[in-house]
Amino acid sequence: MKLMFLGFGTVGQGLAELLIRKKALLAKQYGLKPVVVGIADFLKGSVYNPKGIDLKKALAYAKEGRKLSELPGTPFEGDALSFVKKVNADVMLEVTYTDIKTGEPATSHIRAALNKGMHVTTTNKGPVALNHASLQRLAQRKGVQFLFEGTVVSGTPLINLIRDTLAGSEIKEIKGILNGTTNYILTKMEEGLSYETALDKAQKLGYAEAVPDADVKGWDALAKVTILAGVFFGAKGKPSDYSCRGITKITSADIAKAKKAGKRYKLIGRIWRQNGVVKASVSPKQIDLNHPLAGVGGAANALTVTTDTLGDVTIVGPGAGRIETGYSLLIDLIKIGGGV
Ligand code: HSE
Repeated sequence: MKLMFLGFGTVGQGLAELLIRKKALLAKQYGLKPVVVGIADFLKGSVYNPKGIDLKKALAYAKEGRKLSELPGTPFEGDALSFVKKVNADVMLEVTYTDIKTGEPATSHIRAALNKGMHVTTTNKGPVALNHASLQRLAQRKGVQFLFEGTVVSGTPLINLIRDTLAGSEIKEIKGILNGTTNYILTKMEEGLSYETALDKAQKLGYAEAVPDADVKGWDALAKVTILAGVFFGAKGKPSDYSCRGITKITSADIAKAKKAGKRYKLIGRIWRQNGVVKASVSPKQIDLNHPLAGVGGAANALTVTTDTLGDVTIVGPGAGRIETGYSLLIDLIKIGGGV
């Protein structure tokens, strides 16, 4: 299985580490022998080598700040789109930055790869939130797979759970905690910290960005809600079509009041049907303490999927992280390789 990386940041490197660590298992259990034949990175440079790139070396170069174009192979000067057109691989891993407004340039990278007959797996929310249906159709036409387990709850296998494990069920509602940073902040506020101090801690721990808007205003959760609404409810809405409120207006007094009433604030993303129409939203909600979502503290994510067969099924796990998100790509690769 020949792989091409577009992007070699935290997530790409997380997968590279897993490919090294799990080399023997992949071969023995799934008959998979992945060979990375190309890496393109906007900042670190690009290289291709049909004989295979040494991943240990690539990781060391990335760590030392050395250009990947210095790795054994052919250095490449053009942009990522030209790279896709030039280099031949079985699978493209699209792990460049997310632009949730346009979905670009990632959507164009994915289209080009699918058009070339390559399978694609991505952790990039933009293309899936905005163009899932057309990309899926293109993949089908080309007889390849377009997978994106890592776009929602990173490697915690929510998408596989609904698509494969709950096969044959009608999905009535999905609701849950889709953003770890805000869940961490709300947990700390319940422990007595102010919003500002909790946010500061989240930033120091690397959960929240210096400009924390995407998390605290609910936009990141909204992107994930849009993906789930499109993939599992057939909705055509863009993120801007759904209502979204973050946690910036929640005060310590609100949290104390909810606690007294036996409840706990969580930033909840929800997708459901109302009179046959798909609805979706992100907003802070008071959850009963005996609901499974109430017990999920810190930076964890959790989703309850309501089905016609099993009733409620809840999955809890990490929603971010280098290895965790790298693992989402590994799940997709094993699937593409026919392992599961
Ligand atoms: N920043 C997100 C979170 C992870 O805190 O959950 C990436 O979607």
